[in-house]
Amino acid sequence: MGLILFFQILFFSILSSPPSSHGWGKEGHIMVCKIAQQYFTEKTAKTVIDLLPESAEGDLSTVCPWADQVRFRYHWSSPLHYINTPGVCTYKYSRDCHNSKGEKDMCVVGAINNYTEQLRDYGDSSSGYNLTESLMFLAHFVGDVHQPLHVGYEADEGGNTIIVHWYRRKTNLHHVWDTNMIETAMKDFYNDDLNSMVEGIRMNITEDWSDEVDHWENCQNKRVTCANSYASESIHLACNYAYKDVEQNSTLGEWWITTDDYFFSRLPVLEKRLAQAGVRLALILNRIFDPKSVWEYSSVIRSIGDKEFNRAANAGLARI
Ligand SMILES: *[C@@H]1O[C@H](CO)[C@@H](O)[C@H](O)[C@H]1NC(C)=O
Ligand SMILES: *[C@@H]1O[C@H](CO)[C@@H](O)[C@H](O)[C@H]1NC(C)=O
Ligand SMILES: *[C@@H]1O[C@H](CO)[C@@H](O)[C@H](O)[C@H]1NC(C)=O
Ligand SMILES: *[C@@H]1O[C@H](CO)[C@@H](O)[C@H](O)[C@H]1NC(C)=O
Ligand SMILES: [Zn+2]
Repeated sequence: MGLILFFQILFFSILSSPPSSHGWGKEGHIMVCKIAQQYFTEKTAKTVIDLLPESAEGDLSTVCPWADQVRFRYHWSSPLHYINTPGVCTYKYSRDCHNSKGEKDMCVVGAINNYTEQLRDYGDSSSGYNLTESLMFLAHFVGDVHQPLHVGYEADEGGNTIIVHWYRRKTNLHHVWDTNMIETAMKDFYNDDLNSMVEGIRMNITEDWSDEVDHWENCQNKRVTCANSYASESIHLACNYAYKDVEQNSTLGEWWITTDDYFFSRLPVLEKRLAQAGVRLALILNRIFDPKSVWEYSSVIRSIGDKEFNRAANAGLARI
């Protein structure tokens, strides 16, 4: 019964159009959370709905960009969106996870661990934290840590100071990865529809990438999160793909298709990062809110994925 209700809510949210007023930076976060929601267990889904603000109407993805909106009001939270390395392609928590004042743990990995710990007190009325905010922060930061340039070089602020040209627009390298590539992919391949892109990524999770999903979920020592490894993956991808062959004033997108190398070679990386972020966010929340269900993580993810897909297909709702 609860499950059916959940899937009805899920499908309503998947099928309804994305709000067109959203800036593109928000789209990546919305996608990560839409992917994650498909893999929540029933108990996780209920707990998430219980914690969400009324305005979210039971849909986590609507609040996933929230942390960016409060960056200035909650000034202390600004360094929690990223990690800087001292110009090297490796990341070390003890060296790199701090804010500009040198305060330890004030980086995206520290924040993921922090908000995970806070949410473990769900149901304990003595928790001093606003767990609605903890959930909204966690869902956002798991997205951020997967964006390769959110773990980038300090000197160029994760690509923010590298000015590049993306088709006709002047932008910066960080923004290309936050926004421009997603925008171009949606326009070129998904009829400008966010939900179609989410569905394309979801199909890959159950098909092309299904053999890799176990590895994405693998977490050494069975800790609740493996945010350290997600950050290490990001700086490696930043060096091998995002920064690679890019200079100040590079032209990354062009009108004629033969110079679209950057876009076509980097887009699969970006799409896989969105998928990994979604699967791992679901895993983290299932571990926090429904620990009994996830001793066999991958089978949970797969069986929920299949059930949801079959239900949709039976109801004639699947967007294939
Ligand atoms: C942990 O969360 C609290 C409450 O939002 C915040 O004040 C603190 O700065 C956070 N610390 C980190 C490392 O995220
Ligand atoms: C928790 O945070 C949300 C979002 O900032 C806010 O709307 C709500 O009023 C807060 N709840 C409490 C009890 O402070
Ligand atoms: C699906 O996977 C294939 C092969 O890895 C890749 O080329 C394609 O871009 C992926 N599509 C999406 C929507 O992620
Ligand atoms: C930057 O690149 C554009 C076109 O690629 C070129 O017209 C312009 O002169 C370059 N500017 C500098 C400062 O190199
Ligand atoms: Zn962010």
